[in-house]
Amino acid sequence: MTSAMRVRAFAKINLSLRVLGTRSDGYHELRTIFQSIGLHDTLTVRAERGPFYLTCDDPNCPDDTANLIWRAAARVWRAAGRRGAPRDVAVDLKKRIPLAAGLGGGSSDAAAALRAFARLWRVDEARVRAIAGELGADVPYFFEGGTVLGLGRGDLLFPLIDRPAAWVVLVLPNFGVSTKEAFGWWDADRKHAKDTKGGTKDTKEMRNDLEDAVTARHPQIGRIVNALRRAGASHAAMTGSGSTVFGLFRNERAAARAARAVETRARKTLITTTADCRRYGRASIPTRG
Ligand code: C5P
Repeated sequence: MTSAMRVRAFAKINLSLRVLGTRSDGYHELRTIFQSIGLHDTLTVRAERGPFYLTCDDPNCPDDTANLIWRAAARVWRAAGRRGAPRDVAVDLKKRIPLAAGLGGGSSDAAAALRAFARLWRVDEARVRAIAGELGADVPYFFEGGTVLGLGRGDLLFPLIDRPAAWVVLVLPNFGVSTKEAFGWWDADRKHAKDTKGGTKDTKEMRNDLEDAVTARHPQIGRIVNALRRAGASHAAMTGSGSTVFGLFRNERAAARAARAVETRARKTLITTTADCRRYGRASIPTRG
């Protein structure tokens, strides 16, 4: 590698996330609609003699093997037929997507890293796509981007016609939610609910089934959803397993006004836009730089 390679890792929101039940592999069966947004991390991959390592500008982001970028490196290295641990490459991660936020930051970083390492170590894209699903249920989505229906664990993907572009207000509470924990809460609440047995659910309705379970433990989530609706959002919901709540708006002015109305000391807001499949595809290709 003569110069560095730069690759952007975009965040996602779940326009809808329906939980259909539990699976024998411990995961939950989902029907979700993913949507890419403009907010992104940036990975810079460069040649450096010695063992592989990762640096990150966010002190709360793991820079050791707990980060999926490490696992992506090890898996692609092996797929390239090389022995031992990956080496002679360093990755610098500029983190802009909040952690434990339901925005897919860790999964998107992993997908971006897979694309970069595939180029570097000459592994074809089909191979690394297969690795993606093993790193996490959300990782395969980041090889598609745009508006995509996800079934199964969220990794059986069906691209949909792009939704009309929208402005997105992200409201970030001052706490994160672990995905594993949120699904555990959904399980616990379902056991206690009398009315769910055999009940028919309209699974096509746009809503996030994890939202009630997370709101029961963090009432602020429900309050933010209502505040965004009052502020004029055409759609507002928690994304993924939280803690971020998003609202969709038709123009920048309406988004900025809503962001001002819902921001407090305990929650930050970010304004971005949805990214369609073409924009996503163009902007997430590794480039020299
Ligand atoms: O696949 P990933 O590591 O991102 O998932 C984190 C956790 O979220 C899983 O270990 C599982 O507990 C939960 N999960 C789930 N059903 C899904 C996706 C995630 O139960 N479809």
